[in-house]
Amino acid sequence: MDFANKVVVITGGSEGIGRALVEMMLNSGAKVATCGRKHDKLYQLQTRFPGKPLHVVVADVSNESDCNHFIQSTLKTFGKIDVLINNAGLSMRATVLESDVAAFKRLMDVNYWGTVYCTKAALPSIIENKGTIAGISSIVGYRGMPGRSAYSASKFAMRGWLEALRVEMLQHGVNVLWVSPGFIATNIRSVALNAKGEPIGETPMDESKLMSAEECAMHIIKAIEKRKRAIVLTFTGKATVLITKFFPTFADKYIHRFFFKDGKLIK
Ligand SMILES: NC(=O)c1ccc[n+]([C@@H]2O[C@H](COP(=O)([O-])OP(=O)(O)OC[C@H]3O[C@@H](n4cnc5c(N)ncnc54)[C@H](OP(=O)(O)O)[C@@H]3O)[C@@H](O)[C@H]2O)c1
Repeated sequence: MDFANKVVVITGGSEGIGRALVEMMLNSGAKVATCGRKHDKLYQLQTRFPGKPLHVVVADVSNESDCNHFIQSTLKTFGKIDVLINNAGLSMRATVLESDVAAFKRLMDVNYWGTVYCTKAALPSIIENKGTIAGISSIVGYRGMPGRSAYSASKFAMRGWLEALRVEMLQHGVNVLWVSPGFIATNIRSVALNAKGEPIGETPMDESKLMSAEECAMHIIKAIEKRKRAIVLTFTGKATVLITKFFPTFADKYIHRFFFKDGKLIK
């Protein structure tokens, strides 16, 4: 993969899929800019790549002026943007009945509005360079999942917004794509919010059995390179999208069995 002289912006690059994307893009010759909320994690990231063209900015993507500052400082540092990967994201695990509405809003602010703010700010430069805008969505962007109602809503919103933008961008030579990973081994389930909007602090999955962040990042980069429209990752992810499309009522029951035991959400 060759991204020599390309400027690639990745939101949420200090952990998980974003960090794997940062590393692979740097190794492919790209100049990379990334952001996250925690200065320490970004500093650690920078020390892993001494001498590499990596620009890091503390920014919360749910804050419009943080996003504008992140994109403007990237333009000042590297002069242009070819690729934007809207990766920063947050999940949740709690039923609608027990959850505070504020937690739902936080998910929309990060996953949906974060994508809108960063994309709007970077769009003129991406159009100039006939580049790419990617959104890291999820299987829950195709299929609402119990305990993840706001996460599902935010990813449906992200996908709908990007699909509309994709068609608007056809005349500008910009490719817009969305990626829907299945379960990937990262921190996302530990930092997911509970009903009160606080981090849960543990994962309900055996993370060692899941696709690695590095493999996921490799699929994302290949899709960007091939200017694909959309990709769905993992066998379970693909099966879920297909079964939902053709047998939605069966899928409802199957998913209920997977996520609930004795009426309680277990995953
Ligand atoms: N892992 C999965 O199973 C899975 C499946 C489907 C889709 N996805 C999607 O993949 C993307 C990456 O997830 P991941 O699994 O790599 O998660 P992760 O390991 O929790 O990493 C999330 C990254 O985003 C940053 N971040 C979180 N909130 C942010 C905010 N408000 N502003 C700026 N940066 C923020 C985090 O840094 P700070 O905490 O320092 O801000 C971190 O660098 C997300 O959009 C997620 O929805 C993941």
